[in-house]
Amino acid sequence: MLQARGILGPMKKSKASSTAAPLSKHRTSSLSPYGSGAASGPSIAVAIMAAGKGTRLKSQIPKVLHEVGGLPLLEHVIRAAVRIAPAKDVYVIIGHEADRVRAAVDHTRVNFVLQAEQRGTGHALMSARAALAGYDHVIVLSGDAPLITQKTVGRLRNFHLEEQAVMTLLSAELDNPTGYGRVLRKTARSAEVLAVVEEKASSPAQKKIREINSGFYVFAVKELYANIGKLSTANAHGEYYLTDMAAVLRKARQRVVAFKTANAAEVLGGNTRAELANIDEQMRLAKCRQLMADGVTVFYPATCVIDSDVAVAPDTVIEPYVQLLGSTRIGAACRIRSYTVIRDSEIGDGVIVRPGCMIDESRVAAGAVLGPYSHLRPGSEIGEGAHVGNFVETKKIKLGKGSKANHLTYLGDAEIGAGVNIGAGTITCNYDGVNKHKTVIEDSVFIGSDSTLVAPVRIGKGAYVGAASCITDDVPADALAVGRARQIVKDGWAGKKRAERKHKAGETVSVAYPATPDDLKYERH
Ligand code: UD1
Ligand code: CA
Repeated sequence: MLQARGILGPMKKSKASSTAAPLSKHRTSSLSPYGSGAASGPSIAVAIMAAGKGTRLKSQIPKVLHEVGGLPLLEHVIRAAVRIAPAKDVYVIIGHEADRVRAAVDHTRVNFVLQAEQRGTGHALMSARAALAGYDHVIVLSGDAPLITQKTVGRLRNFHLEEQAVMTLLSAELDNPTGYGRVLRKTARSAEVLAVVEEKASSPAQKKIREINSGFYVFAVKELYANIGKLSTANAHGEYYLTDMAAVLRKARQRVVAFKTANAAEVLGGNTRAELANIDEQMRLAKCRQLMADGVTVFYPATCVIDSDVAVAPDTVIEPYVQLLGSTRIGAACRIRSYTVIRDSEIGDGVIVRPGCMIDESRVAAGAVLGPYSHLRPGSEIGEGAHVGNFVETKKIKLGKGSKANHLTYLGDAEIGAGVNIGAGTITCNYDGVNKHKTVIEDSVFIGSDSTLVAPVRIGKGAYVGAASCITDDVPADALAVGRARQIVKDGWAGKKRAERKHKAGETVSVAYPATPDDLKYERH
């Protein structure tokens, strides 16, 4: 279990010394769950409420799986949670589409608690009773508020322990508090809270309160569960509101306080599509700012879509309207030009990606040049200094060091050596309608333009393939292969045909454009 000190650094008032005065004026006990006198700190769990449907999103996808910054809302919250406590002390409360939510974040090694019926945030915590029973305190996070940081939660937790409170809620002052629960403090300057009133139940005067409940809390576990049964569903939604615990605990003469964060942006929740868009934008701008601080040039950051997990090395330039998605990694001193989308790919140092490229699950070695308009589909491995040019599509290929495929080409299921030149319009015919077959092109081969290579086929080292060849058989090293009909020339044939046509039509005039194709008739006057 987590020691309150250590992971987040020392608390404001250190309790390192066993002779230290009790932390608070409110409670003192050697058995206190606040740690005074105890050899080790209190045990603290983190519970993430993620069972709700997200009705306001009008979606088939559960709310906490909607993505911002390229990751599900819940994934962001779990990441914050495991920075606060080890994964074994983190409990995600799931319910609506529980299997789907669980599967999406299963890799995070946290625990899951089922809230089979979703009867409100208070009910979510009721469902976690058995899981949390062994802890002194529980930090409660909302699975739909992904901007929260470890630092703010750490401060909330420290405040709770220092105040020896039974419930501490994180509050924030918002310019537009509409939709949030409002915090009713005992007095304006008191840490103590009388109640939280939800938007729907609030009076006009209460609606003017700009201090909102963020949906993040710390509770003393024993007192929480001793009183949670007192929650009622007598409210607008007929739900058990966790927020009502403030009034319930107060009535039970327990200490309820609020800790107001100065970082109000961190508490924003993604309840609607508009709120999700706002959070996504903030996250992406923050990502660009981080990259710039790390030495990356980002022109017009507001137009760039860079996912949370993307890494870019210094001196790389990212032009406007670029998307870098998933687990993409970009080396140093690259130039990623406009309208390029790169997903789950690795780009080496000094690579130039010209405008309009799509790169998916591929690897590009140092010094390569791609585009404009190259499409690298999954499994493309482009070698050092290689060139892939205009309207070239690749899939599951290796293109060796310094090899070039510059124009209008499809390369699929192919192993291509170093120093190879692939002429314009080359096509590897890798599919026979049932199975995929491999094309092997050894080092230093020259493939003439407009050639089709019917796989399985191997072109030996240093061989030449004549332009417009259809290659169906292996070509030995250093050979020339020409696979096309031999050219024939008939002298005077065209002139004779023209004369015959004119004679038939009774025409005698000659025209500048003897044959105007139908589709140009209306454009050429
Ligand atoms: C809640 C607070 C409100 C606060 C706001 C901050 C309540 C009653 N209100 O409102 O005071 O200002 O957060 O963002 O708590 N959930 C469950 N099980 C349920 C219902 C919800 O796990 O039965 C989860 C949701 O998936 C969500 C979180 O709890 O992640 C918060 O629920 P939500 O419905 O979004 O509460 P808000 O209306 O935002
Ligand atoms: Ca919410």
